[in-house]
Amino acid sequence: MTALTLSTAGAATLRADAVVVGVAKGAKGPVVAAGAEAVDKAFDGKLATVLETLGASGAEGEVTKLPAPAGLKAPVVIAVGLGAAPEKDDSYTPESLRRAAGSAARALSGTKKAAFALPIEASEDAEAIAEGALLGAYAFTAYQDGENGKKPLAEIALLGAKPRDKAYKAAADRAIALTEEINRARDLVNTPPNDLFPESFAAVASAAGKEHGLKVQVLDEKALLKGGFGGILGVGQGAANGPRLVKIAYTHPKAEKSLAFVGKGITYDSGGISLKPAGHNETMKCDMSGAAAVFAAVVTAARLGLRVNVTGWLALAENMPSGTATRPGDVLRMYSGKTVEVLNTDAEGRLVLADALTKASEEKPDAIVDVATLTGAMVLALGTRRFGIMANDDAFRTSIHEIAEEVGEDSWPMPLPTDLRKGMDSPTADIANMGERMGGGLVAGLFLKEFVGEGITWAHLDIAGPAFHEGAPYGYTPKGGTGSAVRTLVRLAERTAEGDLG
Ligand code: BES
Ligand code: MN
Ligand code: ZN
Repeated sequence: MTALTLSTAGAATLRADAVVVGVAKGAKGPVVAAGAEAVDKAFDGKLATVLETLGASGAEGEVTKLPAPAGLKAPVVIAVGLGAAPEKDDSYTPESLRRAAGSAARALSGTKKAAFALPIEASEDAEAIAEGALLGAYAFTAYQDGENGKKPLAEIALLGAKPRDKAYKAAADRAIALTEEINRARDLVNTPPNDLFPESFAAVASAAGKEHGLKVQVLDEKALLKGGFGGILGVGQGAANGPRLVKIAYTHPKAEKSLAFVGKGITYDSGGISLKPAGHNETMKCDMSGAAAVFAAVVTAARLGLRVNVTGWLALAENMPSGTATRPGDVLRMYSGKTVEVLNTDAEGRLVLADALTKASEEKPDAIVDVATLTGAMVLALGTRRFGIMANDDAFRTSIHEIAEEVGEDSWPMPLPTDLRKGMDSPTADIANMGERMGGGLVAGLFLKEFVGEGITWAHLDIAGPAFHEGAPYGYTPKGGTGSAVRTLVRLAERTAEGDLG
């Protein structure tokens, strides 16, 4: 894990292996950002010219490595692009700082200690830089020895922050707790499905519960059968690794509001009897990203001591074909009592979520948010970098969209058109688990809506696009699990604690 400290030292005098400065794209070439004054001075005030000579422009994500001139303690200077220079002096958006810090941290893998001298005007800037650096320094190393050059940057000293100022201290503490939990979610997503299955995921949740004083309850197959959780059991019955429903609850003695987060936790999605073709199942260990995000968000809420009750529900199952698997044509009796005709066993996420949504509704939370890698259709609609938001309440959907934007997660509001419901009519059961192919992401959302308790505000985040990044890393986003939606859930919990919502 990468360590973070706030330092009052100057960029020229701090002992480190590298010093990071910001460079923005100005109208007439690269512009050195605030925070880099001492470094620029060591270059005789010519850092911008040197960078321009090397072909640097200040574009977002650009990284230029320079040998440090005499006068700097660190041997290497890393100039990281911040993108277009802001109109107002050095008022960079939190997301541009986050991304630049992430790019720098990635470029520094294999390095022991780096000083970050990026522009900081307020504690929010320090928080964004800390978040970006700590997320960018992530590497999944559990199955590789360090010889692949993957050893993440070990130590970050944040310059320009005020270590004795309460707001800065709180910003650093929040960034550390949040990014540790996001990185833990990434680890869970990246862990191969032969090691992460429902039982082992539940064990991780139980251990974290102990560590952070959370109440964790695990329903195993016997308990699920007794409780009548036909959706979770139906999806899990083909696998040798049985399903689980995990409840992980954080409570604050002075809480006035309660939230329930529900996560899709398919530890591997082969499609079941409706088997996915080759080319569609290689990354399906990521199908528990929703559950990982929910788990991380509840633990973060606890670590931050938020004045709100947050309950996480992890609907865990492995979707496999076998002689005991659910067949297309089978009818499941769900926890709610509704019957579902399973037309396609690959539409399994909505089945496990349905049971968890009904269960979560029994406690009458003020709002429920589910998070799921639910449909390929949402990826076709929105691309791989943003999640879709659906809800039974327009204002709530708008709030979540705004919160996501505030924390630097791309998303877009999507409708739940009632005309798509008739496509799920079944001649045999109350509803089928599949409807029209067109608008498949919305069809899935409409299915879920029927399992949310009467009168409960609910939103559904389809993170199938951004949960698992297959392209080259960028900013603070690594290859593989991204920890998508954790920041949005945590900010929602914070805003709810502050009484900002409803
Ligand atoms: N887990 C998949 C959705 C998915 C696709 C996640 C791509 C991440 C990347 C889900 O269980 C699924 O298979 N959905 C089907 C539903 C269909 C059968 C109605 C889909 O989207 O094709
Ligand atoms: Mn599926
Ligand atoms: Zn799935």
